[in-house]
Amino acid sequence: MCGIVGYVGPKKAQEVLLEGLKRLEYRGYDSAGIVTVSSGITQLRAKGKVAELEQKITDDNTNDGVGIGHTRWATHGEPSERNAHPHHVGDVYLVHNGIIENYKELKQQLAEYEFVSDTDTEVLAALIDSLYKREDVKLENAVTQALKLVEGTYGIAALSPKEPHKVVVARKGSPLIVGVGDGETLVASDAAALIAHTDNAIYLKDGELAVCTAGNVEVMNLDEQPVSAIVEKIETNLEAIEKQGYDHFLIKEIMEQPDTLRSTLSGRVVKEQGLLRLGGLNMNEEELRAVKNIFIVACGTASYAGQLASYYIEQFCDDVTIRNEVASELRYRSFNVPENSIAIFVSQSGETADTRACLQEMKSRGVRCLGIVNAVGSTIAREVDGGVYVHAGPEISVASTKAFTSQVSALVLVGLVMAQAKGVDQELVNQYIDEFDALPDELEKTLARHEEFQAIAKKYERYDNAIYMGRDTMFPVALEGALKLKETSYIHTEGQAAGELKHGSIALVDDRFFEVAFIDEHRLFEKTMSNVIEVNARGGHVLAITNSPRDIDAETVVRVESQLQLLTPLVLNVVSQLFAYYIAVARGNDVDQPRNLAKSVTVE
Ligand code: F6R
Repeated sequence: MCGIVGYVGPKKAQEVLLEGLKRLEYRGYDSAGIVTVSSGITQLRAKGKVAELEQKITDDNTNDGVGIGHTRWATHGEPSERNAHPHHVGDVYLVHNGIIENYKELKQQLAEYEFVSDTDTEVLAALIDSLYKREDVKLENAVTQALKLVEGTYGIAALSPKEPHKVVVARKGSPLIVGVGDGETLVASDAAALIAHTDNAIYLKDGELAVCTAGNVEVMNLDEQPVSAIVEKIETNLEAIEKQGYDHFLIKEIMEQPDTLRSTLSGRVVKEQGLLRLGGLNMNEEELRAVKNIFIVACGTASYAGQLASYYIEQFCDDVTIRNEVASELRYRSFNVPENSIAIFVSQSGETADTRACLQEMKSRGVRCLGIVNAVGSTIAREVDGGVYVHAGPEISVASTKAFTSQVSALVLVGLVMAQAKGVDQELVNQYIDEFDALPDELEKTLARHEEFQAIAKKYERYDNAIYMGRDTMFPVALEGALKLKETSYIHTEGQAAGELKHGSIALVDDRFFEVAFIDEHRLFEKTMSNVIEVNARGGHVLAITNSPRDIDAETVVRVESQLQLLTPLVLNVVSQLFAYYIAVARGNDVDQPRNLAKSVTVE
């Protein structure tokens, strides 16, 4: 979603801002803008990509050393230059991520202003300007006073030609990171925009504001009381956010899964000693033993990861009831939390608004909250009581792939640690440990067959409809596969429990559909085959993805030779990821930034 960058220092701000905005492009956006200041001020905005913005740059003001920039994913008002940030009102230029919920009421109170955009951000800029006009008020004072009147969420960066040496930033519910460089200060909503310049960062907390000047940062709260800020190391590097020879981030991230999974498991699964170690859970054996209910809360792919992991966890923690909850639904439902419950929040970005809202709700009810998070230092990671960083590295492609594999694995590890505390047979734990040990190599072997899957994708690239189906652990794989195909290829795809097909969806089967069936040799093979046969009988075009050596009556069969008994779904899932990728490429789509989508959904 929207991205913020800012710079104060000796370099040319325009260049730093544009480079930063390009690093944030992956998040998805529909317009962009920058403003830089020294003796004069230059504001540039454009609908579309950062490249369109770049075309507007002339030689004027290229030496300015202070500026802010933004990529906008439209919420209030269409994508257009008029609605693009920065918004300029009076002496204030403002970029903003999030939503100002009471902007209509505020707008009525700001009758002296003429608004030219449809955005809530312009209203906030006017509010700041109205307070900035008062005597002896500095930009940071105007910002704190304005933010006290605001309802909603924000990450903001503001500057003014009246105080051209500073950028003021603040956050509530939307990330804001201050990069502390040598004689320079950077700001960004995502560490990816900072790491070319510095790996020292202050992660602002909700309700904090920072006044950034060249090489100096003052952090305060909204009462303008100083806050001592901790400078932390950003745990990523430039290589991790570059394509490294691949055509797209999506294929890079699919192909790197053997390594990213090794990082997830490293130090946590100790095969030689039959040990599992998850220090970050912050739960002792007694607390783990007491757990009787687990809420797994997430959105999209992360929620399918939760669903898949539940199939495993409920097998080996047989006194535990698991509820998988889609965060956008749970947050508005009235639900009971039984005694001895914990809640696990699964999120790649650690910033998803609905997941965060559920986390707040669970915390307010005193429930112990754990996080399965990829982005280090993200809001969810900071707000939970404990958890597991999945360490899959930055995921740049909007469609989530490597995070899924790592999320499922991390969740299963949490379940196993709990099962051990509850006295599960070590034999079973050892079986999982062996499978986790073998899984990265199995992924590698399967991914190496990518050209074969590309050829199969060719057969199906012109269809406009698809049904994905599976049973048991293959059901969440079907849901995830369907999501991957629809979001990257724009083929209308439904994920189904195979057994549900004849309760409705089988009515759709005709020549315009193809069906992908995930068939597990070790679980419900015959049952799933009976669904395949039903589809065949109605003229369906079935692509079977399986680990079974048996004869399978389907139009196309992808057979994966796997020694695994338990974790095969994660192997079949990478076939499905590659299949979606190759179809999306063949259809000429923007595979890394599919239309209308954003990485990290920070508004509800
Ligand atoms: C799909 C996808 C989304 C995310 C969802 C949750 O490929 O990427 O469905 O999984 O928006 O995002 P996180 O995991 O960042 O909370």
